[in-house]
Amino acid sequence: MHAMAAPAETVAQEIERLRRELRRHEHLYYVLDQPEITDAEFDALMNRLRELERLYPERVTPDSPTQRVGGAPREGFLKHPHSSPLRSLDNAYSEQDLLAFDRRVREGLGTDSVQYVLELKLDGLSTVARYRAGKFYLALTRGDGEFGEEVTENLRTIRSLPLEVPAREKIPPDFEVRGEVVMTRSAFENLNHERQREGLSLFANPRNAAAGSLRVLDSRITASRRLDFFAYYLLADGQPVLPCQSETLKRLQALGFKVNPEWKVCQGIHEAWSFIESWEARREKLKFEIDGVVIKLDDLAGQRRLGYTSKFPRWAIAYKYAARQAETELLGIEVQVGRTGALTPVAILKPVAVGGVMVSRASLHNQDEIERLGLRIGDWVKIERSGDVIPQVLEVVREKRPKHAREFHMPAACPVCGSNVHREPDEVVWRCLNADCPAKLKESLRHFARRGVMDIDGLGPALIDQLVDRLGVRTIADLYKLQPEQLQALEHMGEKSAAKLREQIEASRQRGLGRVILGLGIRHVGERTARLLANHFGSMDKLMSADQEQLQAIEEVGPQIALAIRNFFSEPSNQDLIARLKAAGLRMTAEPRRLPPRELPLSGLTFVLTGTLPHFTREEATAAIEAAGGKVAPSVSKKTSYIVAGEDPGSKLAKAQSLDIKILDESALRRLLDGGN
Ligand code: IVH
Repeated sequence: MHAMAAPAETVAQEIERLRRELRRHEHLYYVLDQPEITDAEFDALMNRLRELERLYPERVTPDSPTQRVGGAPREGFLKHPHSSPLRSLDNAYSEQDLLAFDRRVREGLGTDSVQYVLELKLDGLSTVARYRAGKFYLALTRGDGEFGEEVTENLRTIRSLPLEVPAREKIPPDFEVRGEVVMTRSAFENLNHERQREGLSLFANPRNAAAGSLRVLDSRITASRRLDFFAYYLLADGQPVLPCQSETLKRLQALGFKVNPEWKVCQGIHEAWSFIESWEARREKLKFEIDGVVIKLDDLAGQRRLGYTSKFPRWAIAYKYAARQAETELLGIEVQVGRTGALTPVAILKPVAVGGVMVSRASLHNQDEIERLGLRIGDWVKIERSGDVIPQVLEVVREKRPKHAREFHMPAACPVCGSNVHREPDEVVWRCLNADCPAKLKESLRHFARRGVMDIDGLGPALIDQLVDRLGVRTIADLYKLQPEQLQALEHMGEKSAAKLREQIEASRQRGLGRVILGLGIRHVGERTARLLANHFGSMDKLMSADQEQLQAIEEVGPQIALAIRNFFSEPSNQDLIARLKAAGLRMTAEPRRLPPRELPLSGLTFVLTGTLPHFTREEATAAIEAAGGKVAPSVSKKTSYIVAGEDPGSKLAKAQSLDIKILDESALRRLLDGGN
């Protein structure tokens, strides 16, 4: 192997290499959506870098990939002036509006041949990222367009934002990128799903969720959300860097920024209109919500000639798609019981077509939301449907309130099992307190089977009802005991579908520790935390026996999460559940970490520590040696490579001397750790 001939890396070199690799993988994963390594491998690289930075804090830099986790909360937002005003765009709502815009452009330029760039208008928050000497150092929200709020640490947590750009791309070293911070529909749904479980208020749409995640004083909150930054402008000293918009988009992409690939250069307004029409229906299938299309004159010289009105650029306009809204009657409110026992009111609507889809139910989130809307049963309501998101009730149409409209109150007992319901003083959600409430069990099963959790396809709500009500399934673990003949006896189940379901359940045994942890539905433990826990502890047993302090050793696990995990595992019924899942043969170990030992300066060496070192505690010295690939043994033997001796060494030193083992002091150890001799 070439590694044998190559000199060992110094710590500084290894840190740089890890950063380079991590940046490349972040770009592959978050920008290009083409990962080359598994999540576990990525986490292992990141953990290794964290470990080194913990041991050598003087080497931490703000552009290190480890710095995306967010820091302590701040008091308020500072305001900074923008380098040039962030303007908004005039809106067009019809083909006529668009033709009128095109006429003004052509008249203004005195030519009939104009080239436009069309970009999707992502529905998020416009945000500015500034770079100095190629490194990210400041981020501002739009604010009032003249002054923006400083959100540097928050933006830093967004994985698709490059923290430094390659110098080879010829642009000024000090520049600024403008773009949109957005959240995918699926991240939004997962976030709301988790918030609902936890009794927190829900976000109305992905845009609000993105705003609520970026404009927070605690950047650790931003870090825990999945946001993206899409770039569309490149400026230096407040002025565009390149002579046209199409060049700008290409250059931004080359610099490593995420650019929405669905942009197009159009010759004239008719081609532009076809582009807009073609996205009208397709926009529902995008991962992100868009509310329109932005049409920009491609050529910068032309943009300069047209200039601005008092409010908007004359060289660009936003075409807005009609919102998918409708009015209908609220027939009633049904109360559903979730996995954590949370009671969720659902609006039962008189069916109405919204953007071509019939809608008969809409989410109402919780009692506070009903009060905020001032909603009464019998009211006319305005509803909105965006993409796959559950339809939302926007407002009550007051003028149409009928006399018989009546107020709604949350039930005093669980609508499924009749037990008492309770609401914590600081929460908005009422919960059923009965641990054996069948509704909770059904929801737990649904959560467990979901895609992204245990991926048991075909285990939908109707089937779960039957498993619980007819087959007597009482825990998640019972799923693994189901026999084909039991399944075949259920409604809508043939021999084939029963066999298929069994296969799916069988296959789910191999999903691994992270998924099982997620599947348990521990409060505050979402996908990311579950994965971190799995990689950190490696087995369910280690996780179960970890105390709060050990849990909090994971950077992103704070006291609240640690407590929730402890509470979960100290509950005997949960311990019992895990024992049953184990007995059912579920894989409860993480994928092994893969870090080639050849890259570590101390691999193959065994150390023994004795006495007190001036700057290292024994634990720190052990961690440093292990992080560098070495082993630490409790006592001296022929296999010992070095003994590290501090003040007041014990008998180990004498023994080492008798065996002719090399003795190191702290500074010699440090040199070794650094890759020297
Ligand atoms: S260009 C002077 N391009 O839409 C031109 N804006 O009202 C400024 N937006 O505040 C904007 N996607 O938040 C531009 N590809 C895109 C966009 C975009 C979304 C937002 C942006 C801006 C608003 C325009």
